[in-house]
Amino acid sequence: MSEPNDDRTWSRWTLDGTGGIERTEPTTAPAAGVPDSDPAPDLHIWDTWPLRTRSGEVASVDGWQVLISLTAPADVTPGERHDIAEHRYFVSRDGREWTDRGPVFGTDALGDEDAEGGDSPHNDALGTRQWAGSALYDDGDLYLFYTAAGDPDSEALSYTQRLAVGHGASVDTSGDGLTIEGPWTHEILLEADGEWYETQAQSGEMTYTFRDPWFFADPATGRTHLLFESNTPAASGDCGGDADQQAFNGCVGLAVSPSGDPLDWEFRPPIFDSVCVNQEIERPHVVVHEGRYYLLVSSHVDTFAPGLAGYDALYGFVADSLDGDYRPLNGSGLVVTNPATAPFQAYSWLAIPHGEELLVSGFLNYPGFNVDRLDEIAALSGEEQRRRFAGTLTPTLRVAIDGEETRIHGTLDHWAFPSGTETLPPLADEWSLPAE
Ligand code: FRU
Repeated sequence: MSEPNDDRTWSRWTLDGTGGIERTEPTTAPAAGVPDSDPAPDLHIWDTWPLRTRSGEVASVDGWQVLISLTAPADVTPGERHDIAEHRYFVSRDGREWTDRGPVFGTDALGDEDAEGGDSPHNDALGTRQWAGSALYDDGDLYLFYTAAGDPDSEALSYTQRLAVGHGASVDTSGDGLTIEGPWTHEILLEADGEWYETQAQSGEMTYTFRDPWFFADPATGRTHLLFESNTPAASGDCGGDADQQAFNGCVGLAVSPSGDPLDWEFRPPIFDSVCVNQEIERPHVVVHEGRYYLLVSSHVDTFAPGLAGYDALYGFVADSLDGDYRPLNGSGLVVTNPATAPFQAYSWLAIPHGEELLVSGFLNYPGFNVDRLDEIAALSGEEQRRRFAGTLTPTLRVAIDGEETRIHGTLDHWAFPSGTETLPPLADEWSLPAE
């Protein structure tokens, strides 16, 4: 059998010699409650991303910003939401007040007769449900990259994952807001190849991952990329040959579009992996700041390999080029985690560059649940699970970047996505910028 990773050329997350992952003041978010007003109180809302331009800026379409969220009706248990996830979109003129415009691809799980979705009343998106992705607004053309999760030909719920795109829809700002008008054309872009990227058949008993496509054009090279979350087939020598540790094999995958066409992708080797360290490094994205590449991923306390400890957190790594070598930020990679008294307060963070800062938003998960493992939620009644799950966006964190170090140094309101040109308020007295 071939051992493709014996020739590994990419960086790997190692925790040797770092003293491990420890909560510190600059990496711990303040305690957060639910927002005073929620744009969609009848929905569970989790992974969320803005419509961006090719160069990565948050798009302004005739003065409108657009957010895409994974959503499900709030009357299902939080665990069930992944099985019926639906993309909805929210629009705003100021990046603060958001209006729910309904399902992106045409159906409406809330049962509204008059769902937005243009000429495409039925959701013909691929997979049995759609998981996280990214959204590109390219000279008036929309490309919504997503994870086509589930095999529509399978009776049972399946966890097949393929990278897909919806395109061909248009944006209309002539009425009292912004609407996205179908019909959409949906295409599968990439399926795991089994060489660099594990197929479901190759994967063991742990959660399978091949998902979360993130469009990224490199400002230094002009090259067009998709990053995604996957697993690397372990090589025999990895983790000292220990098969139990080798099962923890998260990676950040890479595809390039040689022509720049957002529909035309070729695999490249991963840019990073966490073999022997962590099994799921989710929603990878890259921010370029002062010529450095900051690679950010979310991961869970319970996906670290045996003998290693971490948190539900945003982890980050920095390199001088997209291909690496990546070094962990703040020594261990920890960038943002939840307070010790609310370890599952938030998850699935996304960092958007804003001047000298990163603006980091996630979804509010279980803000008041102080347990060691999130699976303890399963012991509660469905009603209690729903009551404890916030299912909305967090306050936005302001994170200063200083070379290989970061520091949370302020917060904005829940759901705050200021435009790139907006001057942020002065930092409050209790926050300080990192020393020069
Ligand atoms: C992170 C995540 C994503 C995935 C989605 C599924 O919260 O696991 O990786 O696309 O949730 O609901």
